Amino acid sequence: MAKLSVRDLDVQGKRVLVRVDFNVPTEEVDGTQRITDDTRIVESLPTINALREKGAKVILMAHFGRPKGKPNPKYSLAVVAERLSKRINAPVAFATDTVGESAKAVVATMQPGDVALLENVRFQAEEEANDPEFAKQLASLGDIYVNDAFGAAHRAHASTAGIAAFLPVAAQGLLMEKELKYLVDELATPARPFVVILGGSKVSSKITVIKSLMEKADTILIGGAMAYTFYLALGYPVGKSMVEADKVDLAKEILAFAKEKGVKFLLPVDSIETQDSFPFKAGLPTQVSGLNSVTDGWAGVDIGPATTELYCQEIANAGTVLWNGPVGVFEVEAFANGTKVVGEAVANSKAKSIVGGGDSVTAVKQFGLADKMTFISTGGGASLELLEGRELPGVAALTNK
Ligand code: 3PG
Repeated sequence: MAKLSVRDLDVQGKRVLVRVDFNVPTEEVDGTQRITDDTRIVESLPTINALREKGAKVILMAHFGRPKGKPNPKYSLAVVAERLSKRINAPVAFATDTVGESAKAVVATMQPGDVALLENVRFQAEEEANDPEFAKQLASLGDIYVNDAFGAAHRAHASTAGIAAFLPVAAQGLLMEKELKYLVDELATPARPFVVILGGSKVSSKITVIKSLMEKADTILIGGAMAYTFYLALGYPVGKSMVEADKVDLAKEILAFAKEKGVKFLLPVDSIETQDSFPFKAGLPTQVSGLNSVTDGWAGVDIGPATTELYCQEIANAGTVLWNGPVGVFEVEAFANGTKVVGEAVANSKAKSIVGGGDSVTAVKQFGLADKMTFISTGGGASLELLEGRELPGVAALTNK
């Protein structure tokens, strides 16, 4: 069901409560938090700016880290307010609480076009409990609700879901709209061949995604440690690679399902292997494995050259590529080549390229390929749940068009 969009609203002079995902990575320098990547803030700007231009009073709600329901200066959104202010080139009034005196006072003095940010909603235990009373208190600060926090839309919390029941209108923001366009609409009728690259360490965490994508994809390319659980299922030697020995039956089931669906399901034919054990570091001897095997006493840490070539050919011929999960331990330079070359192939292909959140996004940025992708999701868990075919509570709560 199509949801109401922020584009459809008349917001002139109205107090618009916008849930955003400002859960940005930070590092501590001299006792203060510094933002290391403000992509999520930047991606929220189209909605914020559109509302300001239409004369709304923009009241932003967000979570930051996991403070477990208690105020904690380490997780204060003050640092985000400062960065946002620079990004919109205008003041951002910061409320030092979420629904208390500070929030009420800040909202009361707002003029059309103004922007305010409330303190971390997760400083209240009621947020994650989706407490109706708290949701009602939040709702009382505004006239209209907009959810633009795609990255948190898989959470049924007070500010992402519960609040919608207490305001007459709950619309999706422009980022939410864009995420759903690429991760749902585009993938429902993809330009073919539709090639999916799935990496990561565990089959168990991707099982529902694999099954769901099997219904749509023409080709699935497997990388990362999860490939070795499939090796086990096929009786191939895995050396001391990371495997989930208890998921072998699951891996067999997936292989059989791929056959049944006529999906080309490719596993690495060779690997870069190291003598190290998890967590893998550089410096120990590495070599290219034999065909469909990892050498005894060695661990697979990246796809090998023959696999890289094979996967790049599939990508070059694709109409659509969805990429979720790195194909090797890309954090270590010696094991990053497979992920880098596959990433470059995706970036340079004529295919629509959709990068589905999490570590693959980090890899794409690390290799300077972000500008060449058609779409990069801002959601980790949220994009995974969407790819599993699940309805996200933060979307379900929105007003139908
Ligand atoms: C994320 O960073 O993936 C989202 O902001 C959700 O955060 P959470 O996993 O702490 O709910």
